[in-house]
Amino acid sequence: MKVAVLGAAGGIGQALALLLKNQLPAGSELSLYDIAPVTPGVAADLSHIPTDVTVKGFAGEDPSPALKGADVVLISAGVARKPGMDRSDLFNVNAGIVRNLIEKVAINCPKALIGIITNPVNTTVAIAAEVLKKAGVYDKKRLFGITTLDIIRANTFVAELKDKDPQKTNVPVIGGHSGVTILPLLSQVEGVSWTDEEVTALTKRIQNAGTEVVEAKAGGGSATLSMGQAAARFGLSLIRALNGEKEVIECTYVEGDGEYARFFAQPVRLGKNGIEEYLPIGKLSDYEKQSLNNMLDVLRKDIILGEEFINK
Ligand SMILES: NC(=O)c1ccc[n+]([C@@H]2O[C@H](COP(=O)([O-])OP(=O)(O)OC[C@H]3O[C@@H](n4cnc5c(N)ncnc54)[C@H](O)[C@@H]3O)[C@@H](O)[C@H]2O)c1
Repeated sequence: MKVAVLGAAGGIGQALALLLKNQLPAGSELSLYDIAPVTPGVAADLSHIPTDVTVKGFAGEDPSPALKGADVVLISAGVARKPGMDRSDLFNVNAGIVRNLIEKVAINCPKALIGIITNPVNTTVAIAAEVLKKAGVYDKKRLFGITTLDIIRANTFVAELKDKDPQKTNVPVIGGHSGVTILPLLSQVEGVSWTDEEVTALTKRIQNAGTEVVEAKAGGGSATLSMGQAAARFGLSLIRALNGEKEVIECTYVEGDGEYARFFAQPVRLGKNGIEEYLPIGKLSDYEKQSLNNMLDVLRKDIILGEEFINK
């Protein structure tokens, strides 16, 4: 398997690359690309770790050499938040970066499974879809917005609050990846009961967890280490599914049946061609039903912004 990381010299990219160097199946190739000239050095550094994963690094304007033959492409290229910004403030810079990179993906590895980390994910995934469509290679089962960070945060916070094993806690998170569009389905966590106050407070904490990190880093960026972990989990799930493992299930922001919005984070079963099956979001509490209704305007606007960026 060949995995390409675009934005590999950044905070997320380096953490992700380190985890993949240690956890990809033996014989895999890790291909690192970033505009930053340090990127071949990041690859050289990682290549001294004794695992059977080959690492190559590419810098400069053209990601093509890094993309040739890639099975999985993970994209974290772009700017991150500073205090006072929300994810939509990143649109002006990151929209163009994602467009340009996906144009190259369409040419060099049109069949790759693509995971988008670059914010605002609600919008950048729509941009990627429209670029791939224009190039005539869009397959909605191969494009994913990586929302795994919301899930691992929810797992951690629920386990802390309810004294559970965080590794065995599994909170589905649906919708999108910003503010009110992040909807953890706390009612579906097995063996836990909630007061209304707990649900409201914890939902809000999960929605604002990224801002907690942005503020604590005080101008030094946003979540990189937990995001590296989340992206590694998602990327490795894609690889396991490509290798034929059954029952690989992840919540991720994808184009589904459009019941709620064109793109929507939901559980899917992964397989050799990307999404094997869209899984139902299950039974929602009244609070969750209302929260879902309340997010849809925001989510749909975020999506239209991405579609129009490419088509207008
Ligand atoms: N999906 C999520 O849950 C989630 C979580 C945290 C952060 N993010 C987003 O991930 C992105 C990256 O965050 P970070 O903390 O790693 O930022 P960072 O600034 O540390 O790294 C970004 C990297 O992208 C590179 N880059 C910029 N333009 C590029 C281009 N055209 N081609 C290739 N590389 C390019 C930069 O050189 C830099 O190395 C941000 O948009 C951030 O908002 C997403």
